[in-house]
Amino acid sequence: MGKDVIIACDFPNKEKVMEFLDKFKEEKPYVKIGMELFYGAGPEIVREIKKRGHKIFLDLKLHDIPNTVKSAMKVLSNLDVDMCNLHAGGGSKMMQAAIEGLTREDGTRPMLIAVTQLTSTSQELMENDLLIKEPIDKVVMHYAKTAADSGLDGVVCSPLEAEKVHSVCGNGFVTVTPGIRFADGEVGDQVRITTPEKAKEIGSDYIVVGRPITAAEDPVAAYRRCVKEFVG
Ligand code: C5P
Repeated sequence: MGKDVIIACDFPNKEKVMEFLDKFKEEKPYVKIGMELFYGAGPEIVREIKKRGHKIFLDLKLHDIPNTVKSAMKVLSNLDVDMCNLHAGGGSKMMQAAIEGLTREDGTRPMLIAVTQLTSTSQELMENDLLIKEPIDKVVMHYAKTAADSGLDGVVCSPLEAEKVHSVCGNGFVTVTPGIRFADGEVGDQVRITTPEKAKEIGSDYIVVGRPITAAEDPVAAYRRCVKEFVG
């Protein structure tokens, strides 16, 4: 499993993201494009960043009826993204339909990972708003197992959950983990955080790093530090 650092490019428009990527003269970092940039700049932004030689994780978290997700995934697959995602809460039929939609005629497809419960979901929210009474850890692991059984490649989770996800779903099941901060860096609004070095130790497969790189005085140096700590 190739470990890699994915930069969360949470920029509002094309100019800002290109200005940021222009700083990288030697490396072509793996880039995460989220809803803000995708909805603001349109699918063209994916093609342009891809053309520059970057791998792309398109973080749109699809959640709809199976047929709609299947058709939408087909479009994303044609955009040639490397990784995309959905909400495991859509159920196994939706996840299986997503894989069908993603799979190209030649049998290849982007990696597909699931969001289990969002990190913004608390036990209280789950019980009161969703009427799910089980402990959140158990729910997260159940969703991860359902995703694995539906043929998905992995989940987005906290690095602190990566070890358990691997023990429940197997070591080949990929963990993509945000919530990364340097030991001497700013924490911001993240709560359960880990350093790149610690994420490596716990067994994360990919770390998603936003502000510690994008808001750094020298983003290229910050990226290199992440790679050094996480990949070695
Ligand atoms: O700037 P920062 O490193 O906190 O960015 C983390 C990125 O990962 C953001 O794009 C955020 O939306 C995303 N993310 C997260 N926690 C999750 C899922 C996604 O921080 N559970």
